[in-house]
Amino acid sequence: MSEIAKLSFDGNEYEFPVLEGTENEKAIDIAKLRADSGLITLDPGYKNTGATKSAITFLDGELGILRYRGYGIEELAEKSSFMEVAYLLIYGDLPSQSQYEYFSNQITTHTLVHEDIKKILDGFPSNAHPMGVLSSLICSLTAFYPNSLDPNRSKDEVDLSIVRLLAKMPTFAAWAFKNKMGHPVNYPDNSLDYCSNFLKMMFALPAERYDADPVVAKALDQLLILHADHEQNCSTSTVRIVGSSQASIYASISAGINALWGPLHGGANQSVIEMLEAIKADGGDSKKYLEKAKDKNDPFRLMGFGHRVYKNFDPRAKIIKKAADDVLGKLGVSDPVLDIAKELEQAALKDQYFVDRKLYPNVDFYSGIIYRALGIPTDMFTVMFALGRLPGWIAQWKEMRENNEPIGRPRQVYTGANERDYVSMNKR
Ligand code: SDX
Repeated sequence: MSEIAKLSFDGNEYEFPVLEGTENEKAIDIAKLRADSGLITLDPGYKNTGATKSAITFLDGELGILRYRGYGIEELAEKSSFMEVAYLLIYGDLPSQSQYEYFSNQITTHTLVHEDIKKILDGFPSNAHPMGVLSSLICSLTAFYPNSLDPNRSKDEVDLSIVRLLAKMPTFAAWAFKNKMGHPVNYPDNSLDYCSNFLKMMFALPAERYDADPVVAKALDQLLILHADHEQNCSTSTVRIVGSSQASIYASISAGINALWGPLHGGANQSVIEMLEAIKADGGDSKKYLEKAKDKNDPFRLMGFGHRVYKNFDPRAKIIKKAADDVLGKLGVSDPVLDIAKELEQAALKDQYFVDRKLYPNVDFYSGIIYRALGIPTDMFTVMFALGRLPGWIAQWKEMRENNEPIGRPRQVYTGANERDYVSMNKR
């Protein structure tokens, strides 16, 4: 028998069932609230509102726990691969050897994109932000694969769209970079693994041999695993709500890329490096910037700090911080902004303002330092986040569709003008 929550209002009492998840989280099911009481709830930013039930990712913000389909992020980051994690998130279990080979071969044989997509790419000026290029190219897939427009068409069609997304996003990401550099694009090399192929498409130059550094490819693979899903964050909720209207998966993912772009979300990794560079250019006084972040009259925020869910260390940040030391050490790179980042972190973790608000480094605080060491330019950092988050977006979209969830349409509290009559312009 499930527990009951009671609401008393205006002399009446209402009862609502309390759901309990597999990790003992509890939620009041208010599906009948408006019909029974005429009331709605109001929760800007959905800080206390669940939009769905999901079996994909579990977060415990107080304890700093992150699990994909029950597997701890620490173990997956150490022992798995991004392609294996993509399969786990999308299909629910770790693949057998034969399932993995079929899945990765499917993806490898779909990496090429229609040559006409280069004409779309050529329309972007070189100063176009790569995130805008990426979301446009992903959405253009609706034109080249019109069967995808109907998400109810068939399971095989959805599975093919999933393979095309996973296969072609690295190609698009690398082409967005080449567009920015004014360099000719590189075509996929299907003899290489996912990360080595991406690095080659990114950095190979005409008439020069390019072999991806295995240290770089491994570090990139781990970063993509760490970004692969994060339950109902802003961009994932965007993918779900766009998909809930039965728009195609390509349109839904393109919308998610645009939501991720914002500096409060995935764009934070670019903002962190820009912030650290500004602190370095201003003499490296991290204490001064810590005070600015605390000053309510100053719009400056400590980018890469704080999180809607984590009120403890973001487990991904801990792994990335260690990886930053490892990768820079192996590559023989010393980056002064890493020292500034560590100083800021140490100072913030002892500062009452940050302690009181439980503000810790999040996934974006150190990731940019690794991307930079890998030779990836700052305005490509959020593209890297999107590359990592793609399997999570796909898994969440697929779960929403398979559960036949209704179209998302929140209510509101109206605060505008009451009824009034039209007055002709000459009488106003
Ligand atoms: C991601 O949701 C996800 O799961 C996202 C993500 C994922 O994997 O998908 O984890 C990826 O988006 C990570 C977050 C990246 N963004 C940033 O690093 C930007 C900086 N952080 C903040 O803007 C903020 O912490 C948010 C947006 C992340 C969370 O904001 P909330 O939950 O809406 O909290 P809030 O803005 O109401 O802040 C609560 C208090 C406020 O102070 P008071 O009004 O109580 O006095 O904390 C303060 C805020 O001013 N605060 C900060 C701060 N973050 C919050 N003060 C200074 N610097 C900061 N970074």
